[in-house]
Amino acid sequence: MTDPETPMDAAVPTSERIESLIDRLTLEEKIDLIHGGIDPDGLATGYVPPVERLGIPALSMVDGPMGVRDVTATAFPASIALASAWDTDLAYEQGEALGREVLGAGHDVLLAPGFNIVRVPQCGRTFEYYSEDPHLSSRLATETVEGVQDAGAIATAKHYVANNQEQDRHAVSAEVSERALREIYLPAFEAAVEEADVGSVMAAYNQINGTYATEHEWLLSDVLKDEWDFDGYVVSDWWATTDGVAAANAGLDVDMPGVPLHEWHVEGSPVHDLIGTLPDSFPKGTLAKLAASPWLPEGANPNLFEESVFGESLREAVERGKVPETTIDGKVRRVFGQMERFGIFDDDQPDGALDAPEHHDLARRVAERGAVLLRNEEATLPLSEDLDSIAVIGPNAETAKIGGGGSSEVTPAASIGPLSGIRERVDGGTTVEFARGVERIEDPHDAEGGILDLGVSASDGPGLNDDGEVPEIGDAVAAARRVDVTVVVVQDDATESEDRSLWLPGDQDELVARVADVADRTVVVCNTGGPIRMPWAGDVEAIVETWYPGQEDGHVTASVLFGDVDPGGRLPVTFGRRIDDYPAATEERYPGVGLQAEYGEGVFVGYRHFDAENVKPEYPFGHGLSYTDFEYTDVSVKSGDSPEATVEVTVENVGEREGRDVVQVYVGPEDPATPRPPKELAAFESVALEAGGQTTVELEIESRAFAYYDEDDGAWTVPDGEYTIFVGRSARNVLAEASVTVSETTPLE
Ligand code: BGC
Repeated sequence: MTDPETPMDAAVPTSERIESLIDRLTLEEKIDLIHGGIDPDGLATGYVPPVERLGIPALSMVDGPMGVRDVTATAFPASIALASAWDTDLAYEQGEALGREVLGAGHDVLLAPGFNIVRVPQCGRTFEYYSEDPHLSSRLATETVEGVQDAGAIATAKHYVANNQEQDRHAVSAEVSERALREIYLPAFEAAVEEADVGSVMAAYNQINGTYATEHEWLLSDVLKDEWDFDGYVVSDWWATTDGVAAANAGLDVDMPGVPLHEWHVEGSPVHDLIGTLPDSFPKGTLAKLAASPWLPEGANPNLFEESVFGESLREAVERGKVPETTIDGKVRRVFGQMERFGIFDDDQPDGALDAPEHHDLARRVAERGAVLLRNEEATLPLSEDLDSIAVIGPNAETAKIGGGGSSEVTPAASIGPLSGIRERVDGGTTVEFARGVERIEDPHDAEGGILDLGVSASDGPGLNDDGEVPEIGDAVAAARRVDVTVVVVQDDATESEDRSLWLPGDQDELVARVADVADRTVVVCNTGGPIRMPWAGDVEAIVETWYPGQEDGHVTASVLFGDVDPGGRLPVTFGRRIDDYPAATEERYPGVGLQAEYGEGVFVGYRHFDAENVKPEYPFGHGLSYTDFEYTDVSVKSGDSPEATVEVTVENVGEREGRDVVQVYVGPEDPATPRPPKELAAFESVALEAGGQTTVELEIESRAFAYYDEDDGAWTVPDGEYTIFVGRSARNVLAEASVTVSETTPLE
């Protein structure tokens, strides 16, 4: 019986059925419902087995942000590409499609989206996240969650919180102020809870101020559950929980995957297969540990090859009184609450659609909308239909850049690379030459979900040309000399579990430089997971960043290059000129010393730092060119209930073709007593306009945009005074400014 003396989690939905089930469950059964087990179909990333005795169905979870893992599924563009569209409706659409794919594959929960802020451009999972800006991240993450959940799948906001680097992710402590957490790292999670009622939150691997995320009572219970009224369940990242009792008492609800590494996903690597054939009496864990030891990351969970810390040991802790049984009931109630809400109890989930043709179209549309035209000298782009010849050059130009490595990997039924996309587009009307130029960049592939790989790594084969020879830059240079336009496709090789270099891998920089030396016109297409160094930026005519475009890569590249669509993308992250220009450029800040990363930049993350320190970026936050021109007129600011405001601006397409612009509104205090960023994104709107067309856009600025988090008061505060409203096309391209006076504000919630 539930202890009537212990108040239930008031925010958590329950029902007579849930309470009656909890009453009838044994302690062993309850414990089995809060950690994972083996999926008999072998397709779930995380699986809570059923309790058949009571008719409780299983709960099946699957990765991840770019599509469904481990089956043939639509490979959507990376989250950073979606973010580059700055379009909440599009984020909703992609979320809805992801949710349908999850249900179509027979799962209940999507282990995505990734909400972490791009604090350092080196983060290996930058491609899985949205932005360096909390407002942009919040708007897009919330809409994605709404889409996933409206489709009928439970979304998971991950990785809570400050999981901003892959290096040492299992152990590093983010030493971060409450102000920076509140203003930069928490808002997307907060919005997903409060606005989208996200069903699940994933606790990260790392520590925050010396405590593991899975055991962080202040973050899990005080902030997430009590302050924001989160009523779903908190799931651990895979093998992230080290201390079951501490985690259970702090507010973690479900430990995943709940099985030792060598028993999880038993197929796929020779070591796994070998261990699978051994009799149960064999010390499999010891063997697996031995086999994996060369690859074990620093700080890897010592329990990696053991049973779940939410298993037998937790049951004993309950019996010894170290964890109240009502606490376990609370966790089960949270899981059941979501299972009831999403129709899982009643087998009443909507139909899904795996690998649906309309999702392929959407994947293409999102990637086109997320393509950012960084540079376009002498109107080199769009390419003309009348070109005699094009050279497509690049080590991987004939294959689609589907995604990065790790748990977000998706296997599409078909994909198209830039070379084929361009050939298909010109349809024989233009000669298209191909040269790889330098050795192929191997795509990282980490079949075990990123924590480690028990000894195998798939490879895309040697970096040879079609004729079996090692490619020569000279061949590429010769091709570039012969043709009208040279398109160089470059890529990086970012992956979960490792951080990325800002330099392109291999000899790609040299390739671009040598080609640019001789080519008439050079266009560089970047398939990168985040910002890169571009030593050749000034020597090429055009640069397009298409990120990881997913299965439709070739179609997207061709339609952007030939102007079938206007590149609507704007940078959601700053591209700095030098590594030292970024805000966390000391070893203490990144990657940290002694497994402590000091977030000494505070709230000055991304463009907030570049603006405050007056450092010129290579390409600023919000930047992206169009094939047409826009003018902003009639900018006006109406103050609503102080400090809210509404900005109106008329946008006119004054060019000769249809196009898309993103109106950006930033707010900054004019004379702050407390250090504050000069401007912070407060609102944005993506608008499509015919040539000559115009529209008036209304953008709401909410009170939080004027506020900072006052640690002494433990509250959001809007100091009275003058604030500048900046309206522009990037953080560095402000077209209009207005001043508003804020006085006598009521305290913010
Ligand atoms: C990743 C998570 C992922 C999980 C399951 C972890 O390594 O950090 O994002 O959902 O694996 O694959």
